[in-house]
Amino acid sequence: MTNRDIEDVVDTSDEWIVQRTGIRQRYVAGEGETTSSLGEAAARAALDNAGLTPADIDLIICATSTPDNTFPATAVNIQNRLGMSHGFAFDVQAVCTGFVYAVTTADAYIRGGLAKRVLVIGAETFSRILDWNDRTTCVLFGDGAGAIVLEASEGEGKTSDRGVLTAHLRSDGSHKDKLFVDGGPSSTGTVGKLRMEGREVFKYAVGMITDVITAAFEATGTTSDDLDWLVPHQANRRIIDGSAKKLNIAPEKVVVTVDLHGNTSAASIPLALAVAAGDGRIKKGDLVMLEAMGGGFTWGAVLLRW
Ligand code: ACO
Repeated sequence: MTNRDIEDVVDTSDEWIVQRTGIRQRYVAGEGETTSSLGEAAARAALDNAGLTPADIDLIICATSTPDNTFPATAVNIQNRLGMSHGFAFDVQAVCTGFVYAVTTADAYIRGGLAKRVLVIGAETFSRILDWNDRTTCVLFGDGAGAIVLEASEGEGKTSDRGVLTAHLRSDGSHKDKLFVDGGPSSTGTVGKLRMEGREVFKYAVGMITDVITAAFEATGTTSDDLDWLVPHQANRRIIDGSAKKLNIAPEKVVVTVDLHGNTSAASIPLALAVAAGDGRIKKGDLVMLEAMGGGFTWGAVLLRW
């Protein structure tokens, strides 16, 4: 759905959307598509890319705020769609920071010896929780899914190791009313619609993002010069550019796909990884920073070697 298509839905313009957000188009799930059907497709693509099959996976973590059902977990639906009845699966819900939380969780399960190969999926159908009469929110979001496979391997505890090097997660529920869904099983008994005070979210975003990225650099003794790629949550071009500038990360090291996908919440980072690894930019051994900030607020950064 292009910005021009949205002009037929609400009083907006391609120019306003591009200038304020960098978004040019987004994808909207079709009839019969669900978060788990998108997640299954992403999971199969990741498994093919890794030369693995569902039989090789012992844990599935799906980051989503738009589950197929209140329960069971979408990860369990994806497990079933993949024909798996071994291993275990669960969802992680941290809104736009969901994928960063899920990668951190997968890494902890691997380090703790509870899993050897983990399929980490970010999958969303935000189109289903948007108020399509509210131009301040409906122009910003889209649907999609992406996935990666994490595998246990011996490291030396150095920054030259591959995999997750450090993770820094934060949340602060006092900001709940700035970005939330106005329904839920235990409050209204309805699904609800997304509500956001965009200007308020913007005010906090750059500071929160730069804090966790700085923490990741400090924990590993690395700097922005060592970084090969910043793969940010794709909410808004101005937030991405502002954060990179504040951290002295060169624009050519920043992966930007918000123009293609809009804000796909927990799916945005794995979608950006799929684009940048797929076109050959991100290569084996590259130092990659993932970061996100979203509803809650939640925010976090993961530094990893690809
Ligand atoms: N089309 C045209 N005009 C619009 C639209 C629209 N879609 N939406 C709002 N406007 C109007 C407003 O009504 C207002 O008009 P007024 O001045 O006559 O009152 C004017 O545009 C300016 O509105 P603001 O809300 O001040 O616009 P702003 O420059 O702050 O941009 C935006 C809005 C893009 C939402 C910005 O605040 C933002 O990016 N916030 C961050 C929110 C975000 O990205 N959230 C994603 C989820 S959280 C996360 O993932 C980090």
